[in-house]
Amino acid sequence: MEELTPRIVRTSTLSEFKAAGRKFSCLTSYDALTAGAFDEAGIEVLLVGDSAADNVLGYSSTLPITIDELIPFGRAVAGATQRSLVVVDMPFGSYETGADDALANGIRIMKLTGAGALKLEGGERSAAAISALVTAGIPVMGHIGFTPQSVHALGGFKVQGRGDSREQLIEDALAVERAGAFAVVLELVPAELASEVSAMLSIPTIGIGAGAGTDGQILVWTDFAGLHEGKPRKFVKRYLELRENLVSAAAAYRNDIASGVFPSKENEF
Ligand code: KIV
Repeated sequence: MEELTPRIVRTSTLSEFKAAGRKFSCLTSYDALTAGAFDEAGIEVLLVGDSAADNVLGYSSTLPITIDELIPFGRAVAGATQRSLVVVDMPFGSYETGADDALANGIRIMKLTGAGALKLEGGERSAAAISALVTAGIPVMGHIGFTPQSVHALGGFKVQGRGDSREQLIEDALAVERAGAFAVVLELVPAELASEVSAMLSIPTIGIGAGAGTDGQILVWTDFAGLHEGKPRKFVKRYLELRENLVSAAAAYRNDIASGVFPSKENEF
């Protein structure tokens, strides 16, 4: 197993990793139990993603989730973590209306969750919001390429940065870095472009569907653990078949109850 980071992971740790050519791993987490397990496993960054919208709350996209809905997840993850850097997403509508709103909402999320950093989507268009947060002392992770909060404008779940949009993606990456972000997520970006951007930037890049050339990788934990029905998307590697196992376990439990095997004498007081 790769050696565990022997200390608390800070934004500066990720810069040191980039300088040393050491790759790091990130997973989403929305609750105390998975956060504790991922922290113990040495996952460097835990993202309390707005993907809690579809993964926990049952919404069909990330757009509906509110700050108030996300805060308890952030608090649970930050409270259960000893080493990992906890990053909380800024939900749709919490930063697009201007740097002042971004700052007020960002401060509230930081105060109420105990997280170490925030993430928000968008390149050039979000530079002012990133800069306002960073100036106030809040570390910010950028997120460009496919940005799920813009799924309707982007015409669905599509790879970004192909053809004419290649230059814009590079401009977005540079804008996020200039605005002071400590890292940037590259989502659904051709592998060759993601490698080029990673080499161009001094801040670490974190890929999801962006090939092996980024400095870190992130997956949504329910994807990595196989909690969804059906075939995973191309960029996902499943490390568990959790849904299949849960269904079998629940069926076994039900059978045990029906047949009187559980509770047994061992389970009695
Ligand atoms: O909310 C989320 O899970 C994310 C990851 C896909 C990077 O933003």
